[in-house]
Amino acid sequence: MLILGFESSCDETGVALVDAGVDGTPRLLGHALHSQIEMHQAYGGVVPELASRDHIRRVLPLTESVLSQAGVGLGAVDAIAYTRGPGLAGALLVGSGVACALAMALDRPAHGIHHLEGHLLSPFLSADPPSFPFVALLVSGGHSQLMQVTGVGQYELLGETIDDAAGEAFDKSAKLLGLGYPGGPALSRMAQLGDPEKYKFPRPLMHSGDLDFSFAGLKTAVLTQVKRLAKVKLDGPATMHLADPLTEQEKADVAAGVQAAIVEVLVRKSMKALKETGLDRLVVAGGVGANAHLREQLNTACRAKGVRVHYPELHLCTDNGAMIALAAGLRAQAGLLSDDEDATRYAFDVRPRWPLADLAPPVSG
Ligand code: KG4
Ligand code: ZN
Repeated sequence: MLILGFESSCDETGVALVDAGVDGTPRLLGHALHSQIEMHQAYGGVVPELASRDHIRRVLPLTESVLSQAGVGLGAVDAIAYTRGPGLAGALLVGSGVACALAMALDRPAHGIHHLEGHLLSPFLSADPPSFPFVALLVSGGHSQLMQVTGVGQYELLGETIDDAAGEAFDKSAKLLGLGYPGGPALSRMAQLGDPEKYKFPRPLMHSGDLDFSFAGLKTAVLTQVKRLAKVKLDGPATMHLADPLTEQEKADVAAGVQAAIVEVLVRKSMKALKETGLDRLVVAGGVGANAHLREQLNTACRAKGVRVHYPELHLCTDNGAMIALAAGLRAQAGLLSDDEDATRYAFDVRPRWPLADLAPPVSG
């Protein structure tokens, strides 16, 4: 079963062709991505209107590139998948519109897929795929969640952020350090040169007893530290250039300290979730899952507890079309797509806000 997948929920246009595989082993046949990072950089963050317009420009050339990589024509495609949500409404509508139009022309179904389900299942395209059940740590720019995953479509929320997501904490801290957008990769590069012990940042909710996160306080702590180092009055205005007086070493030390705080909380809560559920497999997905320090710390903690940890291939950690096509393929194999009445209505609706746990009733026990 060949599935053409479209991702356009934020600032990446992703298209991919996945063979769901008769033996249950999915294969990526073609994959193309256009990142809008350069375009949004001038604004210090994503501008939704510009994002939508750029998706429109990119999506069809990317589709042609994917089909030619895979050496197949559109007629060979069995189903189309697109990100229905969550994400920016206008950006989602581009992927949804193109997917539904193509599907209608080809007389094939168009399945709306949950973006986070795509992230969560993306390790199934890796060389070391997980098996069910597992705990999933989903850490992206908009979400930080721990889920208990019993099977495809069976997701129980164990804990989540009560304010900012982990990716947001990376991005906002990076912005305060003048490292630009997107902040995660830039901050983690800077952190490699820094001393994580030099400045101590709070570990919010670390000992709260539950599996929730809170990262909003970190940006205030970073702001306070940056102002202190820049010798600016604490009630002075926050600007993007506040960090200019800091030396590169001071910036690196702050970056290393923030990264250490975020990672320590994520690792501690993941290990707690594994203990509470009694599961011995962890899947890490979403953009922050690309963070090398997080991977190192999780690998060490999991090794000590005999837990297997699985990641998506590095290039599939951030947004891409492959995870959307894959999620549709795995849903089809699990028999979850047969009653998708929306798939042939082609009334491209999107869900900018859409909790992942809404996909299925909670797992019992
Ligand atoms: O999953 P994703 O591509 O998009 C969303 O669904 O949000 O995640 C993007 C987030 C951004 O906040 C970005 O800064 C962060 O992932 N990120 C990283 C790294 N690479 C991407 N954060 C820390 N370290 C990285 N290496
Ligand atoms: Zn994402």
